Amino acid sequence: MRIRVFETEDQLNKAAALFHGGQLQRKPESVLGLATGSTPVGVYRELVELHVRGLVSFQEAITFNLDEYAGLSKHHPQSYFTYMNQHLYRRVDLRPENIHIPNGEASDLQDECERYDRQLKNAGQIDLQILGLGHNGHIGFNEPDLTLAAGTHLVGLHEDTRKANARFFSSPGEVPALAITMGIAPILQAKTVLLLVRGEDKAAIVSRALAGPITTQCPASLLQTHPNLIVMLDTGAARELV
Ligand code: GLP
Repeated sequence: MRIRVFETEDQLNKAAALFHGGQLQRKPESVLGLATGSTPVGVYRELVELHVRGLVSFQEAITFNLDEYAGLSKHHPQSYFTYMNQHLYRRVDLRPENIHIPNGEASDLQDECERYDRQLKNAGQIDLQILGLGHNGHIGFNEPDLTLAAGTHLVGLHEDTRKANARFFSSPGEVPALAITMGIAPILQAKTVLLLVRGEDKAAIVSRALAGPITTQCPASLLQTHPNLIVMLDTGAARELV
């Protein structure tokens, strides 16, 4: 794995966006795995900037998002679809038919997971997967557990995850209890994984994920086995790495 530590959030965002943009320049038809959460917001902003300056095009790109809340309308202000639309989809030249995100409103959620897996399979290997990191080591919504699922699945969100995400909702009770998440297999099979982590509050989990034992109780620790993992951290998140 290659770890890069940045002094400022701005530097991290710019470096991650350039890395992502470079992928699109080398391979315009890249399959991109995209993440949500507060961490990649600035990266998407910089990517949009590269697009506006004519340096990056998403016209041939295919995107797959990691996850979506279940039982939340896609137009709810906190759905991941709304997030992606605000920060990326409607700001770049992605073709609507090339955008993939689980449908949390599907009447049969199990069916939806299978449909998403088929779409992933048809697209082939993900070229570049962007990841954030949950405080409990989750990636996407693959929560710590005795076992991890390879494919897309329905997941009961852990209480600490719901609490962490409550800051985006008007009340903690409003945070959905269930989500659909891409499984661990397409993430680990991605050609390149770019893990982005900011803030001292994540220092302990960064150290567990990157330097601790490889265990399903810390899903991000499985990334240690990835042959092409790039980690971009700010100094706060890197604090406990020796
Ligand atoms: C959410 C998302 C993850 C994200 C994580 C961290 O629950 N499902 O994909 O990486 O939380 O979010 P943040 O960047 O806001 O700390």
